[in-house]
Amino acid sequence: MRNLLITGGAGFIGSNFVRMMLAKYPDYRLVVFDKLNYRGNLQNLRDVAGDPRYAFVRADICDAQAVANAIREYQIDTIVNFAAESHVDRSILDADAFVRTDVYGVYVLLEATKDFGLERFLHVSTDEVYGEVLTGASREEDALEPRSPYAASKAGGDLLVRAYHVTYGLPVIITRGGNNIGPYQYPENVVPLFITNAIDDQPLPLYGDGLQERPYQYVLDHCEGIDIALQRGQPGGVYNIGPDEQVANIVMARKLLDLLGKPHSLIVHVFDRPGHDRRYALDCSRLKALGWRPGHTFDQALEKTVRWYVDNEWWWRPIKSGEYRAYYEKQYGERLRLAGQTRPELAEGERTP
Ligand SMILES: NC(=O)c1ccc[n+]([C@@H]2O[C@H](COP(=O)([O-])OP(=O)(O)OC[C@H]3O[C@@H](n4cnc5c(N)ncnc54)[C@H](O)[C@@H]3O)[C@@H](O)[C@H]2O)c1
Repeated sequence: MRNLLITGGAGFIGSNFVRMMLAKYPDYRLVVFDKLNYRGNLQNLRDVAGDPRYAFVRADICDAQAVANAIREYQIDTIVNFAAESHVDRSILDADAFVRTDVYGVYVLLEATKDFGLERFLHVSTDEVYGEVLTGASREEDALEPRSPYAASKAGGDLLVRAYHVTYGLPVIITRGGNNIGPYQYPENVVPLFITNAIDDQPLPLYGDGLQERPYQYVLDHCEGIDIALQRGQPGGVYNIGPDEQVANIVMARKLLDLLGKPHSLIVHVFDRPGHDRRYALDCSRLKALGWRPGHTFDQALEKTVRWYVDNEWWWRPIKSGEYRAYYEKQYGERLRLAGQTRPELAEGERTP
């Protein structure tokens, strides 16, 4: 394994993975293959752009020809697939792109893995494919019971990966990670949304009672787990990656306000997301048996994440304009108005009709 195609490598987790792998393996070449959707951002990789072991291809994983060209040109032997439409709320507004990329795109990559006889295909998936787990923790052999269009699309991808292993003997690995936090996460996800809103003294729109529990983990702990699964995992194996603790969203919101020295009164309970999973939890003993351990507690992960957003306004301020504002208004405008909390500075012109 030397030449890795990192699909979706210009997104949040993929870019952190690329940086980590370049630092860890001097003899690897990493080719980021990314169509740059609204979340894909070359600024996420600007510090590695000059590295001769890094290359970038702008293309869609649904385009079989482009995938084949990249594999040939860069003599790829391994694919790590981060490419996905990744935001649950957007999948509820419109699932079309989710089904295309997260199911059909995975099929295209599997066909390429088969045709070119690649050494490894690692598919990055999510704990959301298990659906909500009200007690206990999901194990890798548990049934997939996704409850959002995003989770269902990811589960479809997972099932194709499994089927290509059983049918064609492809050397695949699936990882299922808990919620990531850390640098370069697009600020529509709840943690960076809340941090950046709080910095600007804007309300934090918290869904429902805020008691939904998530296994939040620092993004580099997840990336480390992906690498361990890649190096030491069994072909056909599935590996959960997440921390031992779950944290309620309201606790996360209060802690980040405390870290920023902002009042808890910025939290505004708004109408919940339909089908909002109450709780995710992961049993990660399989990956731990390969030597993986989470490197951060939740408090350490949150503190590092808050500090990064405070120090890197250059990155997120330009994002929180244009299309982002339109999406934010669609997702939260009415919710905040119903909660009676919309600030006057949310201009009249930005409101939906
Ligand atoms: N964020 C999390 O907490 C989390 C947790 C577990 C698993 N995951 C999974 O990890 C992966 C990465 O998540 P993320 O949070 O970094 O997402 P992200 O949205 O930040 O990044 C996804 C990247 O994929 C690219 N992309 C989308 N469609 C594409 C296509 N058709 N062809 C090529 N590139 C395409 C985007 O441009 C973007 O750069 C996803 O597969 C996601 O399901 C995420």
